[in-house]
Amino acid sequence: MGKYIIKVAIVFSLFSCSRNNNFNNSESDIYNKVDSLMSLMTLKEKIGQTIMYSGDWVTTGPTVSSNNIKLLKDGNLGAMLNVYSAKKTKELQKIAVEETRLGIPILFGYDIIHGFKTIFPINLGHAASWDMKDIQKSARIAADEASSAGLHWTFAPMLDIGRDPRWGRISEGAGEDVFLTNEIAKANVKGFQGDDLSKNNTILACAKHFVGYGAAQGGRDYHTVNMGQDELRNVYLPPFKAAVDAGVQTLMTAFNELNGVPATGNKFIFRDILRDEWGFKGFVVTDYTAINELVQHGFAENEKRATEIAIKAGVDMDMMSGANRFYLEALVNEGKVDADLVNDSCRRILFIKFKLGLFDDPYRYCDENREKEVTYKSEYLESARKSAAISSVLLKNDDNSLPLTKNQTIALIGPLVKDKENIIGNWAAAGDRNGKAISIYDGIKTYLGDAKILYAKGCNIKNDDKSGFQEAISLSRKADKIVLVMGEDYHMSGEAASRTNIKIPGIQTELIKTLKEEVPDKKIILILMNGRPLDLSEEDSLVDSILEIWFPGTIGGFGIADVLFGVYNPSGKLPITFPRNIGQVPIYYNVKNTGRPIPLENPNEDYKSNYIDSPNTPLYPFGHGLSYTTFEYSDISLSSNIIGESDILSISVNITNSGNYDGHEIVQLYIHDKVGSITRPVKELKGFSKIFIKKGENKTVNFQLTCKDFKFFNGKDFIFEPGEFEVAIAGSSDFSFMHSFELKL
Ligand code: BGC
Repeated sequence: MGKYIIKVAIVFSLFSCSRNNNFNNSESDIYNKVDSLMSLMTLKEKIGQTIMYSGDWVTTGPTVSSNNIKLLKDGNLGAMLNVYSAKKTKELQKIAVEETRLGIPILFGYDIIHGFKTIFPINLGHAASWDMKDIQKSARIAADEASSAGLHWTFAPMLDIGRDPRWGRISEGAGEDVFLTNEIAKANVKGFQGDDLSKNNTILACAKHFVGYGAAQGGRDYHTVNMGQDELRNVYLPPFKAAVDAGVQTLMTAFNELNGVPATGNKFIFRDILRDEWGFKGFVVTDYTAINELVQHGFAENEKRATEIAIKAGVDMDMMSGANRFYLEALVNEGKVDADLVNDSCRRILFIKFKLGLFDDPYRYCDENREKEVTYKSEYLESARKSAAISSVLLKNDDNSLPLTKNQTIALIGPLVKDKENIIGNWAAAGDRNGKAISIYDGIKTYLGDAKILYAKGCNIKNDDKSGFQEAISLSRKADKIVLVMGEDYHMSGEAASRTNIKIPGIQTELIKTLKEEVPDKKIILILMNGRPLDLSEEDSLVDSILEIWFPGTIGGFGIADVLFGVYNPSGKLPITFPRNIGQVPIYYNVKNTGRPIPLENPNEDYKSNYIDSPNTPLYPFGHGLSYTTFEYSDISLSSNIIGESDILSISVNITNSGNYDGHEIVQLYIHDKVGSITRPVKELKGFSKIFIKKGENKTVNFQLTCKDFKFFNGKDFIFEPGEFEVAIAGSSDFSFMHSFELKL
């Protein structure tokens, strides 16, 4: 580290001469340090800070051949992705610090999406827990593990609202709702970044993908997005605003175009909204090769022009395009790009490097002992077990077929019963497939032992080989209950994994049908592993219970077994609507009313906004999820029927656990702004609370609303408008409003 200290000392003495400063780390001090460092930098070195390349370990897109080590030594690399481990990052950091002219440390980023080593449920699944403390904790754990492996930065959280289950990346987000996604955005930013970025176990978060990516036409990944201001401002932007307000330090551009302008070249969203309106001070990184893709989009004639467009639009760091590397210096020298744009980007990136404490100790994250100590810590695995349990959603449970009891023999059937590869889901960072993972079989075994489990694979996830059907039938005949573990494989969701068919793949449903016909007297329980809402209409008519477990993570098998045997009473609620059929897509609860809504009293009336071959209603609505107990809602009361601009409206409800199990309930508050200068959705989630009630007991739950909760973008500004509102507190979005109040200004 000797050479490093000398170089940094030169920079800081320069700084202290000019400012006579005592080196505390307040923001203006950091900016001063950045400026004095930048005064020593050449244009090429400044551009170097804006360049990121991937290591050769893992890639998430086409690789650009590059000699990273040479770039690094020349001081022309600011960051790397897809490299981790304390040892490897230290080796590379040493080159940056000891072998470059100025010794500026590099940043290491990685996609730590739902855990680093200890893998938590996929994000869509974890959103179903509606448990912000648990989500924040999982991000904290991921940051602890990742930072010990030399990483400073995660490309998460993904905050794209997703309303089209064909889109594979719906698995990475928090679902269809703005309010829930906002809360999850905050929880993740706090979890990853903690309260002090200079600690060695906090990492930078990155809100992605800015913006509109989830609205890809036809649910096809990377596809075109067209949306008006209403949808953009009221639905797709708010989660990013929530992340910025929570202090997120970086944002990533989206691959899609937005209203004809690709996001990576979109000045309106980056300069006008993000910087000018929201005052974002951190830096913007592109998505993988997204600058080059401006050419494919037909937005730039060539890569040089794309480079110019991107930096002018507000991009600071180039991930994998090689655009800044090859063209930016010439663009500045030719006067096409103002050198100050490069200065701004470089300044933002260096500022964050200082904030992370990398100039105090560039190796602070590369500690092999800490890496051993925190990776797969037993308390982290325990936490992941709980996350798996609280994220599962009981979609259906006829005749209380679940929970299972220890005295029963079960036929455990399906291609995912013993699976350890898919269970950790897509984009599982450095998570160990097979090795560490606990299968559903392993989990159930801890309750029943091998003797009471009759296992048959039955079929595969994808192909049409029926040779295992007969064994599945004979074992089912000998069992008390049939438990099926089926679904998608992990490649079927995530990036570039859009589907036009959202049914359970292969012949799995045919196996269910066969079992139902051949063994009609046995209860059938379907445990589903998948990364998106599926069309389950047929399965719903065949089986007695459905437990949606998503991809539950490393310790998923234990967590799900806890639910199956009633040790954890399921409490998850859908963060996204499950349609009856693909033709209903996109389908979500907070739609607009239209001029011809279907009358409740006569749903078949002609010339209404309906389908002639399917109801409008989904199979399972947003917010739906059953418990082994029952909760009854009563005595909803409002503190007033009229509120003014500075009033607080209190709304309370009494909830009784009227069943036979203790349990958690996720209580949801919805409003409806009946008339707006921009029409308002028929229902909007505005609050929720996860409560625990013992059987036979009851609790009062209170919510408070103020005018700011009624704000929406009206084309110019965020405003609230006077008028009548409806309000409800319920256990899912499937309810009719019974209470109202007036906002009087
Ligand atoms: C994805 C991003 C990801 C990046 C880096 C891209 O293909 O769209 O979400 O962060 O790769 O791995």
